[in-house]
Parts: sequence; C-alpha cells; structure tokens
Amino acid sequence: MKNFQYYNPVRIVFGEGQIAQLSDLVPSDAKVLITYGGGSAERTGTLDEVRTALAASGSREVFEFGGIEPNPEFNTLLKAADMVNEHNIDFLLAVGGGSVIDGSKFVALVSSLTEQDGSVSRDKAWDALTSYTRSIDSAIDLGAVLTIPATGSEMNSGGVVNHSERQAKLPFGNPLAFPKFSILDPTKTLTLPERQVMNGVADAFVHVMEQYLTYPVNAKVQDAFAESLLKILIEEGAAVKADPENLETRKNIMWTATMALNGLIGTGVPQDWTTHMVGHELTSLHSIDHARTLTILLPSVMRELKESKKDKLLQYARNVWAIDSNTDTKQDDDSIIETAIVKTENFFRSLGLPVSLADAELDESAIDPIIKQLEAHNMVKLGEHGNNDLEVSRRILERSLTSVA
Ligand code: NZQ
Ligand code: ZN
Repeated sequence: MKNFQYYNPVRIVFGEGQIAQLSDLVPSDAKVLITYGGGSAERTGTLDEVRTALAASGSREVFEFGGIEPNPEFNTLLKAADMVNEHNIDFLLAVGGGSVIDGSKFVALVSSLTEQDGSVSRDKAWDALTSYTRSIDSAIDLGAVLTIPATGSEMNSGGVVNHSERQAKLPFGNPLAFPKFSILDPTKTLTLPERQVMNGVADAFVHVMEQYLTYPVNAKVQDAFAESLLKILIEEGAAVKADPENLETRKNIMWTATMALNGLIGTGVPQDWTTHMVGHELTSLHSIDHARTLTILLPSVMRELKESKKDKLLQYARNVWAIDSNTDTKQDDDSIIETAIVKTENFFRSLGLPVSLADAELDESAIDPIIKQLEAHNMVKLGEHGNNDLEVSRRILERSLTSVA
C-alpha cells in the first residue's frame, strides 16, 4: 500500500424525512441560494420540502436558481455565480443529482473571480476550470440534498463541467468544494425514471472499478471494500429492476454509490480513470449519458489492458464473479479474464445499458474526433502507469465498435 492522507469532512445525514434537518444544518442567518436542475425537484415536491425546512427557524434569506442541465453547462453556472455576488449569497444549497451538485461546487469556487464591474470573469473561470481549479483558495459554503444516487459528488470534492461551445467536458477538484453536509433521503430516488436508476448503478460500479482495476499493492481494506461494493451493485441492480418500489434496495444503492467515490477505496492505491476521461469526450461530442459512455468503454478497457491489469482482473474474476480456476471450470488465465469481462457486459446489458458504440448508434467515423478532443484536452497519458496514449485510446474505441460477446 502507498502512503496516503485521508480527509473527508462531509456530514452525511441519511434517511427518510431528513430534509427537515436543514433548519439545523444551514446557518440560521445565512443568505441561501438554492440551486436545482430542470424541474424534477419542483415536480416531486422536494423543493417544497427544502423551502419549508429553511423557513422553519432562523432568519434566512432564500433565493433560487433553477435550470442547471445534466452535464452542467459552464455558461449557466456563471449566471448562478453572478447571482451569488448580486445578492451576497453566503450559502449554496444544491438540490439534485451529480450535475446540480458539481455545478454548485463550481459556482462556489469561481464566484470570487470577478471583473471590475463585479460580474464573474468568464475568462478567469475558464482558466480555473482548465487548471482543475487548483489555484482557487476561497469558496462559498455548500450543502447538498441528493436526489439521484450515482456520482458520489455528495461526499467528494470534485466535479465535472461541460462547455458545449468549446466541446469540452472537464473535471475539477478542490478541497474547498467538499459539501458541509449532504442529505441522502432514499425515498427521493423513488421518482427516478428507470434509465436514471440504472445509469446510477453503472456509474458507481465503474467508479469502483477505476480505483480497483490496476495492479495489486496489497491494500487489503481497499480491495475487500471495493469487491463488496461491486457485489452489492450487481445484486441491488437486479433487485431494483425487478422491484423498483423496494425502499431497502434504494437505501443500499444510495449508500453504495456514495461510498464508491468518497475517496476511501482510492486511498493508497493506484487508479486508472481512462474510461471516464474517454467517456467525457463521448458525452461532449454525442450527448450520451455519462454512465452509458462508461458501460460502452469499460469492457474494451479491460480487454485492451488485459496484460498490465492481469493480476487484478484474475482477482476480480475470483472475488466478484466467483470464477475459480481450481474448481470445475479448469480455465486458463485468459479465459477466466474473458469470462469475467463477458459477465460484466451481461450485467450492464441486464440493466438496459449499451456495451458498444454500435449500441449507441455510432460507427468508426466517431473515433477520429474523439481522439482529437482527447489530444486537445491533454488526455494523452492516462492510466495507472501513464501509458495510455492516444494510440491506446484509439484501440480501446476500436474494440468498442461492436460487442464481442
Ligand atoms: O434536471 P432535473 O429535472 O432535476 O432531472 C434530473 C436529470 O434529468 C433527473 N433527476 C434527478 N433526480 C431525480 C430526477 N428525476 C426524477 N426524480 C429524481 N429524484 O435525473 C437526470 C440526471 O441528473 P444528473 O444530475 O445529471 O445525474 P447524475 O447524478 O448521474 O450526474 C451526472 C453528472 O455528474 C458527473 C457526470 O460527468 C455528469 O456530468 N460526475 C461527477 C462526479 C463527481 N462529482 O465526483 C463523478 C462522476 O464520474 C461523474 O463524472
Ligand atoms: Zn462517473
């Protein structure tokens, strides 16, 4: 195991009815900006619950900013940042999924980057995004009410912002972007369309895989924890498909998705975010849902990088899928690994998710533009060894054209 520091200051408030806790969690004299998405929070009554809880005590002034898109748009977020300055907002309350929470983190980080007229500088905010927001040293406090389990944004300090005009979807991260708290009420997830539920399960699954599927460093806690999260997602993915109203299943999915990307399983181990980084280009060029880009790419990443990931792939086959070379199967290493990859694909398929570019109605003409964008965004040394250059990414995309199994 490598040396590490683990720091996670996010207070998690989990369970049915917990939105009422906002009256204690948000400072009683705060100027609050509630941020939300395209309307689901209004339709489902969650926003009303939030408004009621904020009004239940104290003397808060409350403003609202709606319309943050899935894959939150840079220009929309800067309008929210202008609103922060206009009303001297000192607390952001994100009500929604990863897009709203990520977007609100970005607003929290860039609203101090102003021009002389007080408006937020588009150029400075863009520079901040392209440099991962590393240099930002102050931010507005932020809390979250999570409505979709998927990204882990509720308990981490990262995010992803899309700039459509520049055809760029870029990640950022800054410890100042950790939410002060996140409320996880699993009943809120019952209104999700099936597509979003399955997207969430897959996103969390791939988050675990990208912190696990590298090479062994004898990190027993992280490995066992990661394998358990994967097994829970396989089990609960099937369960939620069969019985979407089951609240116990929803609870387990929600907490698993949070644990998948709150830093814990990624401490002290190598990581490989190739699937995510190539996936971001697919979203930005073809508007494919984030999780669906991942299920298209991950099987090909596993196949293309089979040699360098061999030990972990065999461990994954054994501990997650119970494929054992010493018992009845008598398979060699290669066929054990291929069996595990096919099982992974079948798991994604069983959730109604695509596993190839063809499933997303794309063909080889999609590949060159993706490679160009990866180069433009300097995604040229991906992977746990920094060996995944543009040629490797091209081979991954070529393998993804159609599914093997
Ligand atoms: O916009 P509204 O109307 O709210 O509808 C949303 C949206 O259309 C809807 N929705 C959310 N909660 C609902 C609901 N509909 C009914 N009932 C509810 N309770 O679901 C749709 C998707 O929402 P979105 O927030 O986009 O989904 P998700 O949580 O999957 O977030 C995806 C974004 O997070 C980024 C992705 O790149 C993408 O931009 N990620 C962030 C990460 C992080 N911060 O650590 C890591 C991830 O890898 C990921 O990259
Ligand atoms: Zn993701």
